[in-house]
Amino acid sequence: TLTQAEKAAVVAIWGKIAAQVDALGTESLERLFSSFPQTKTYFPHFDLSQGSAQLHGHGSKVLGAIGEAVKNIDNITGALATLSELHAYILRVDPVNFKLLSHCILCSVAAHFPNDFTPEVHAAWDKFLSQTSSVLTEKYR
Ligand code: HEM
Repeated sequence: TLTQAEKAAVVAIWGKIAAQVDALGTESLERLFSSFPQTKTYFPHFDLSQGSAQLHGHGSKVLGAIGEAVKNIDNITGALATLSELHAYILRVDPVNFKLLSHCILCSVAAHFPNDFTPEVHAAWDKFLSQTSSVLTEKYR
């Protein structure tokens, strides 16, 4: 679990990310699909070309959900319960993909806020995204 200092580090930079949820979410997905093309197999029904409306819409949704986790950092399980069921029971996304997406979100945050992205903030966000991914994959078995 996250320490108080780690929670504070996650919440502090979220204020900046929140203002750019669409751009950062879209960029995270673009990084995911170009660096790890196998992840595209979950989106056969999407237009995944760069800058597509679906990419923007989905990017905003994904980062919006991350925002819900930040706002409920003491109860991420409760905040993401519905999404957890969706990913496990309906979408059946292999859990390995969550590490790939987390990595891409981290890269996007680092690229946009280089001065805020200290080693401490990096570690805190890495842990937070890992915890969020655990919540979204815990219903699998
Ligand atoms: C849908 C969040 C990881 C594949 C969604 C939705 C959200 C979301 C908010 C929309 C739910 C709705 O419309 O009610 C997240 C978060 C993730 C994550 C926060 C991890 C941090 C992944 C991964 C994959 C994936 C790793 C696969 C590579 C999908 C698919 C949909 C979806 C296929 C349905 C898209 C559609 O048809 O509209 N996710 N997701 N998700 N997610 Fe995730």
